[in-house]
Amino acid sequence: MSNQNFSQNFPDYQQDSAEPLIAPDAMNDTLRQQLERIAGQSKAKTDNTLPTKTESTTVTKSLKTQTLSHILQSGVDIILSHSNIDKPLLQSKLDTMYEGLNSVYEQADIPSSLRTRQFISKHGLIMSTNHCVTTQRDLFRVRSFIRGVHHAIKKKLSQTDNKIHLVYPACGPFAPLLLPLLAHYQHNGEVSPEQLNVTLIDIQPAAVASLQAVIRATHLQSFIHKIVCIDACDYQPDIPIDIIVLEAMQHGVSREAFIPIARHFANVMKPDAFFLPEKVSVRAVIGVGQREFVEQWQNQRPVEGGNMLTPPNIHRIEMGEVLAITPQFLQLNQDLILDEHTRLLPCAELCIPTLIDEQDKPLLLLCTTINVYGEDTLNEYDSGITHPLPDMQVCINFKPKDAKPGDLLVNSGDRLKFYYRLNGLPGFMTTLAASPSAKNSKLGVENERI
Ligand SMILES: C[S@@+](CC[C@H](N)C(=O)[O-])C[C@H]1O[C@@H](n2cnc3c(N)ncnc32)[C@H](O)[C@@H]1O
Repeated sequence: MSNQNFSQNFPDYQQDSAEPLIAPDAMNDTLRQQLERIAGQSKAKTDNTLPTKTESTTVTKSLKTQTLSHILQSGVDIILSHSNIDKPLLQSKLDTMYEGLNSVYEQADIPSSLRTRQFISKHGLIMSTNHCVTTQRDLFRVRSFIRGVHHAIKKKLSQTDNKIHLVYPACGPFAPLLLPLLAHYQHNGEVSPEQLNVTLIDIQPAAVASLQAVIRATHLQSFIHKIVCIDACDYQPDIPIDIIVLEAMQHGVSREAFIPIARHFANVMKPDAFFLPEKVSVRAVIGVGQREFVEQWQNQRPVEGGNMLTPPNIHRIEMGEVLAITPQFLQLNQDLILDEHTRLLPCAELCIPTLIDEQDKPLLLLCTTINVYGEDTLNEYDSGITHPLPDMQVCINFKPKDAKPGDLLVNSGDRLKFYYRLNGLPGFMTTLAASPSAKNSKLGVENERI
């Protein structure tokens, strides 16, 4: 394993300001726990019968570190052996995994300036490592990816006698979609280090230091080929790549560098390599905000894909697919280069349908579904990354009372042309399509539809 010591030199990326993040539920939960701990500490200061924070947490930490490998492996046992989801059981397993991993992270000697460092790179938002730790608790996402990655590894091994190389770029401080699976393999021997080589990549030195500490604590070194601290878009493999596992996005495939990283790896992996997720599909849907985000979840319906109302109850109208990110798509290069700093990816052009009266202030929603591998999928609302993203700038059939710069006033019958911004904070941009006669002369787009 390379990069064993945190004291090694890491690339010095310039720190920049970033917009506030849309906090997923798990992150809010963690912030609440932090607030509770702070409140608990001030209470402890005034109550000298309680143990100090340092005494109590050190005991808990050493216990959890000893059993971390077992904690990870037993969570994966549940994930792989149950085709139905026992949510309370699995959530408690993931929470325990998170606690164990987080105690290793807290004990690793990582300067706070690196843990909290957040910036916008050439390709997208780089979240602070402190904000990335909670993804371990995201139930449906962790479950679908662990299952998908396991089946992809088994399939690849069935096709070759050679050791396979799996690369996990933008893996974060815990590599949550893979490391628990490695602990499971180590325990039951289903896949051995002689069959599987893993490269972990993250741009954040704090994430790399955390990965090193977690791998030491779980004794998973024999599976690890390298841990690399680099912008994933600059990584060049030293051995051929058989499987890529990538999840670097927020809802509506926004903000993080999923598409730039995916395109880079599509060009450096073996032609027959598996790319996970196999497909990310983004659809444009017209909905009604109150129904979509409030009413359909009333009566204590947990907010997740399986509980979504189906049309006509949800009052949605499908416009069509804006973009399908597949291995074939990743090989194409249809970028529209506006200047040296600005690239747009042209996506679909779709017509706004006639709307029924009930759709007061219709909302344009970008709805994401993710096919991880085979049958393992993430549906809308299953995870923060598949929550529908409203495009609040698009005003369909109404004029806003408080018009804002950037508002796009459109009507039923108009055609919307979608683009994907590849620079700054990546994400979809909606425009009114040029009329057919003006279209080709104006932008010089090679293909109108993807
Ligand atoms: C949300 S976190 C963890 C995501 C992780 N894949 C998971 O499943 O939990 C995103 C991580 O991706 C890393 N990252 C984002 N863009 C990157 C890039 N261009 N190159 C390398 N790492 C990147 C960040 O540093 C951060 O640690």
